[in-house]
Amino acid sequence: MDATRSSIDPTRIAPALLGWYDTHRRALPWRALPGEAADPYRIWLSEVMLQQTTVAAVRPRFAAWVARWPDFASLAAADEAEVMAAWAGLGYYARARNLVAAAKVVVADHGGAFPHDEATLRTLPGLGAYTAAAVAAIAFGQRAVVVDANVERVVARLFAIDTPLPGARVPIRAAADRVTPDTRAGDFAQAMMDLGSAICTPKKPSCLLCPLQHDCVAVRRGAPERLPVKAAKKPKPQRYGTIFWLQRGDDVLLVRRPDKGLLGGMRALPTGPWTDASPGLADAPAAAGWELRNVTVSHGFTHFDIELSLAVALTEAHQFGDDAMWWPIVDLDRAGLPTLFAKAASAVLRRDG
Ligand code: ADE
Ligand code: SF4
Repeated sequence: MDATRSSIDPTRIAPALLGWYDTHRRALPWRALPGEAADPYRIWLSEVMLQQTTVAAVRPRFAAWVARWPDFASLAAADEAEVMAAWAGLGYYARARNLVAAAKVVVADHGGAFPHDEATLRTLPGLGAYTAAAVAAIAFGQRAVVVDANVERVVARLFAIDTPLPGARVPIRAAADRVTPDTRAGDFAQAMMDLGSAICTPKKPSCLLCPLQHDCVAVRRGAPERLPVKAAKKPKPQRYGTIFWLQRGDDVLLVRRPDKGLLGGMRALPTGPWTDASPGLADAPAAAGWELRNVTVSHGFTHFDIELSLAVALTEAHQFGDDAMWWPIVDLDRAGLPTLFAKAASAVLRRDG
């Protein structure tokens, strides 16, 4: 082998990686065993869940979900509010809404089964480039180029692509296309992901254990952990708000957030405006003896960070708008509150309990 070689023979990658995968593949609840047919519904659901959380966090959520909604038909018929509540804590709630919408389209327009090709899959609600490619490859064995963050890292290193992200996405995709095989494209994609999560890790890749070490340009040049290069991050804006905990007897006031906008359609504690400076008690849901607690709840969204103060009051009032409801505090776990509001509720209850 020429030790100074700086380009790759792309035909060597898939055989080496698939050989490794055949002995090292992770057993995952949605993954078919070798020779077994994959269940497209489970593949799709797991891919959508995995877009925001780790495999470890997804495992129990996936199991509970498929016990309740085991197939497209049951999900298409599900109550959307219950689906949204079941998604709580997984983030990006539009994805849960799109799961139901896509299941409905599959039932209504596709005879209850996913179309097999990437282009038609992309016409379904919520199926973007990544999910359509992953489903086409993993569930249907179609040749599709599947690029998630793990694949991005492995490919950037294999080819020593040092353009900073996000610009590097274009050459990375082209390189991923060159190494994707015509057969076993689904196994290949999952092998890349497993390699990225077990061997080609972000900070300390275990190159000595890697089936691609003899092909990898980055390891030959040294310091593969420096790839992929990320563009300097812009600091996220900081916003402030107030969460209102209004209690009547053993119940607390919840609202359903407007469909459009952040955490749209989710049950939540009322909040006032989210602004550049702390809004204090502006837009409290009722006139009451509000007490500002000496505690804040912080949460990071994609485009900003928020710090919320906590205001607490008791009331006897009954009348609130259509989107408001009194919710038994002992049953709060079942309200499906997004993480931010679940954090606020525990902060209040820790203090009171
Ligand atoms: N991350 C996202 N999808 C995955 C999959 N199918 N296997 C392993 N890790 C993943
Ligand atoms: Fe990643 Fe190292 Fe393997 Fe290259 S040799 S793909 S850097 S683990």
